[in-house]
Amino acid sequence: MTETPHDEWFARLAARAQGGPSELSAVLALASAGGDLVDFSGGFPDPTLYDTQLLGETAAKAIESKPQVALQYAPNYGLASLRDVLREEIARTQGATPAEDELIVTSGGVDALTLVSKAMLDHGDAVLVEAPSYLGAFSVFRSHDGVCFSMRNDEEGLVPASIEEAHEQAAAAGHPPKVLYVIPDFQNPSGLRLSLERRREVVAIARRLGLLVLEDVAYRDLAFDGSYIDSLYALGPDVTVQVGTFSKTFTPGTRMGWACGPATVVDAMAQAKTNTDQCAGALGQTILESYIVEGHYAASLPVLRTAYSARRDGLMDALAAGLGDRASWTHPGGGFFTWLDIPGIDAKQLAGVAVEEGTAFVPGNPFFADSRATSNIRLSFSRTPVDRMAEGVARLKKAIERLDD
Ligand SMILES: Cc1ncc(COP(=O)(O)O)c(C=O)c1O
Repeated sequence: MTETPHDEWFARLAARAQGGPSELSAVLALASAGGDLVDFSGGFPDPTLYDTQLLGETAAKAIESKPQVALQYAPNYGLASLRDVLREEIARTQGATPAEDELIVTSGGVDALTLVSKAMLDHGDAVLVEAPSYLGAFSVFRSHDGVCFSMRNDEEGLVPASIEEAHEQAAAAGHPPKVLYVIPDFQNPSGLRLSLERRREVVAIARRLGLLVLEDVAYRDLAFDGSYIDSLYALGPDVTVQVGTFSKTFTPGTRMGWACGPATVVDAMAQAKTNTDQCAGALGQTILESYIVEGHYAASLPVLRTAYSARRDGLMDALAAGLGDRASWTHPGGGFFTWLDIPGIDAKQLAGVAVEEGTAFVPGNPFFADSRATSNIRLSFSRTPVDRMAEGVARLKKAIERLDD
């Protein structure tokens, strides 16, 4: 869908629904455009990397061996057995163990962000966000009447001192600051990973200011060298709700995720879930549980890391060869994205011309809460075959040259 129909129903839509297609819908439309397009747009995993036979067997086993569970509604916190498995995984990989009432299973990352918003945000409450940050999260906060205030990011990610500045700005504008949203690992869109030192500062400042840290770890398992830096949750479990998703590392087709944090907030999220889907379906949860318990999840990570790092390398090489003297970009150590700066270019205008030239990406504007004009664009390398990278960058270069002329 590209246009909102303005028939007699339009005026009767809720005010929140009258904004027309969001920037997010435009991204999703591009990502499914197909054809000869060299697509650097959506942050989609590559389904050709899945072991479909193994997934099929795992799904069949889940249905055959536990039909009463797998084909039923799950409790609204999620299946107890999967919650135990996830708590153990978090203990093993992060060194902090959520108690039984401190973890809820969600339908991926966006559901987790939705439940936190429902649990925490009153009308006009401020959410402090990175600049740039994940536009899907802005959309969730805003649809729960939150107001986003930008902090500052530099070439190493979030600048901790800017938390206080954004906090003051929000308070002065009459918006009580409540939540601090951070993506510390291979951030969407910058691809950057926050240092341990900055993580410690973020937690200390949040604690002092009484902010809830909302840590989004969507790409945490995708460090190409397999390394981890302490999570904000491990550094400050008293002030952090961590939201995670298996969409990038398992399958978005099952759309599984989790949130862990202080029991009071998690309990409010479970209550909020009764107003969304009440109880998620158990099938995806059952499949994911077997996949983790049987060791397949851990075994799949090195495969994904190798494949995505080859794509990162392919894109870095293509950019260096094609745009070395015209743009600069981040060199991500994991995840799906690189963030380009093309001085003197209007990113939105470039996106339109680039599609005419046969390549797609997301312009930087919607990754800023204030939608500022920018010369930044986000390229996702997760689904683009390495042998198409040079062609994609050549098309991007042509589009830039058309605007330079
Ligand atoms: C940082 C971040 N958080 C959350 C999500 C959404 O996760 P899910 O697709 O599981 O809802 C994404 C997806 O692009 C993301 O990049």
